[in-house]
Amino acid sequence: METRTLGRTGLKVSALGFGCGAVGGLMVRGEPADQRRAVARAIELGINYFDTAPQYGDGASERNLGRVLSELTVTADIFVGTKIRVSPGDYDRLEQVIPEGLEASLKRLGRESVDLFQLHNAIAPESSDEALSLRAVFSEVVPALERLRTQGKTQFFGITAVGDTAALQQVIDAQAFDTAQVSYNMLNPSAGAAVPAGYPAQDYGDLIGRAQAAGMGVINIRVLAGGALSGSEARHPIASPPPAPIGSGHDYGIDVQRARRLAPLIEQGFADDLAEASLRFSIANPGVSTVLIGMARIEELEHAAAAVSKGPLSADALRQLAALQNGFVGEAR
Ligand SMILES: NC(=O)c1ccc[n+]([C@@H]2O[C@H](COP(=O)([O-])OP(=O)(O)OC[C@H]3O[C@@H](n4cnc5c(N)ncnc54)[C@H](OP(=O)(O)O)[C@@H]3O)[C@@H](O)[C@H]2O)c1
Repeated sequence: METRTLGRTGLKVSALGFGCGAVGGLMVRGEPADQRRAVARAIELGINYFDTAPQYGDGASERNLGRVLSELTVTADIFVGTKIRVSPGDYDRLEQVIPEGLEASLKRLGRESVDLFQLHNAIAPESSDEALSLRAVFSEVVPALERLRTQGKTQFFGITAVGDTAALQQVIDAQAFDTAQVSYNMLNPSAGAAVPAGYPAQDYGDLIGRAQAAGMGVINIRVLAGGALSGSEARHPIASPPPAPIGSGHDYGIDVQRARRLAPLIEQGFADDLAEASLRFSIANPGVSTVLIGMARIEELEHAAAAVSKGPLSADALRQLAALQNGFVGEAR
């Protein structure tokens, strides 16, 4: 498995990371034996970054990941990242709830510390139900995270790069965080390249390039647009219902329809299927440190690892993809 440097953390992370989220569902609703098999296989494949959060199954993902890692005899260096999502009712006591949140996560994970602790809230100029304001991020979140680092509870800290693009750019440029989880995929490539005016997605304004320039590690999320980039509406029984898109189309159905319009990539032999093309698209961006895959079944992990082992999409494939994406310009989001 190829490894890449996670920005200024200096950690050498596998190009493919393991998503323990609720969308794929394996680490939330899967059978314990399947979870154990998948994590063991991931480690065998050289995957070393595991991404979880309290929101994934109301603590279930953290508990399951912690249990599996303690059951396995792991000799490789494994990095674990978790998150904190602050509820609006707690916005006025960030300095208390952030350390409390990490303490609760550590308890569920059965660890003394994590490698990476990330803000899960969106970021915007002003606070809202979903987003924390720039003021809160700079004046309260960062100092609280710095204290946790000094206490040895987390080695590094990061953001989730969702919310208002200009606000995210400000946070990235300030170099206050070590990493960013960035939504980047074949339906919305704007975090990695300029898109034409009228492109039907949130314009993430080259967040990957900016993060790279700021020395941050980039963790690519939503590589399959929550599953839509498989080109199929079908969901595995333990997967979540179709998730709300992050930065791509207005709803999951629109994302699936657009994904199907990328089929010429497969017909022309650039990749065996859309899931493979999606992963190879992401790793073609050198600013991406690791690409997380959400999975319901171990077969999806195997498929993703095989895709990454084929390397980035070719320049011809990327040109064909850009031409197909141009066909979306002017459509409603
Ligand atoms: N910080 C944040 O706010 C944030 C947000 C989103 C994600 N994340 C992180 O990123 C990880 C991955 O993102 P995600 O789970 O949202 O979405 P994703 O990886 O874009 O999509 C996951 C879905 O793709 C489908 N899939 C996986 N492999 C496949 C394959 N080989 N062929 C066809 N379909 C396949 C699965 O659906 P079916 O099996 O049901 O078809 C699964 O539900 C999460 O686990 C989490 O760690 C973080």
